[in-house]
Amino acid sequence: MFITFEGIDGCGKTTQIKLLAEYLDQKGIKNVMLREPGGVKISEEIRTLLLDAHEKIEPITELMLFSAARAQLVETLLKPKLAAGISVLCDRFYDSTTAYQGFGRGLDVAMIDNINKAATGGLEPDLTIFLDISVAESKNRTCRQIADRIEQSGDNFFERVRAGFIALSEKYPNRVKRINVEGEDVESVRNQIVVVVNKYLCEHANA
Ligand code: TMP
Repeated sequence: MFITFEGIDGCGKTTQIKLLAEYLDQKGIKNVMLREPGGVKISEEIRTLLLDAHEKIEPITELMLFSAARAQLVETLLKPKLAAGISVLCDRFYDSTTAYQGFGRGLDVAMIDNINKAATGGLEPDLTIFLDISVAESKNRTCRQIADRIEQSGDNFFERVRAGFIALSEKYPNRVKRINVEGEDVESVRNQIVVVVNKYLCEHANA
């Protein structure tokens, strides 16, 4: 199983990935957690560059860097894990590129679709958990003192990114499952994710 987690900054992905990993462990389903951009040395170094609040990066450069980080992760770690029968839980994947660089920065989404395919060699998640939260609530939850370069992009940017994720969940309803986290506690979100994952497992038990 290849499951990705998506949503605007501050939606609580990182906590929920850990909880799902624990749940899968209990079920005896071997899994690893990865993050994007990151996971392997080159991609972590690209991540540092991309999030550096002192850098000014052009949208097209940003797109290429996120895609380069992804290509390296997919080929050297993600595909080998899946091939070894290990489920992968990934904190973001190409839907983030569509939402942030496409809807957020305004780059052409059809071009991004092509670049996403090239960077992943056509690999698609089996399931994408989209944790949906308003921009106002996400800001309350992000308690970091210093925002990184992307987090400094402003409310209008994040409204567009959120609209991008919603559009993706409507375009790919079988894969992208929108879960409302606004006003919900950690446990109730975790339970909703478990229901979605178990439904997927039941439907694909004989696949
Ligand atoms: P994180 O804070 O969720 O680890 O993600 C790093 C930041 O990078 C976050 O602000 C979202 C952003 N991002 C993009 O803009 N495009 C992408 O393709 C990815 C994977 C992340």
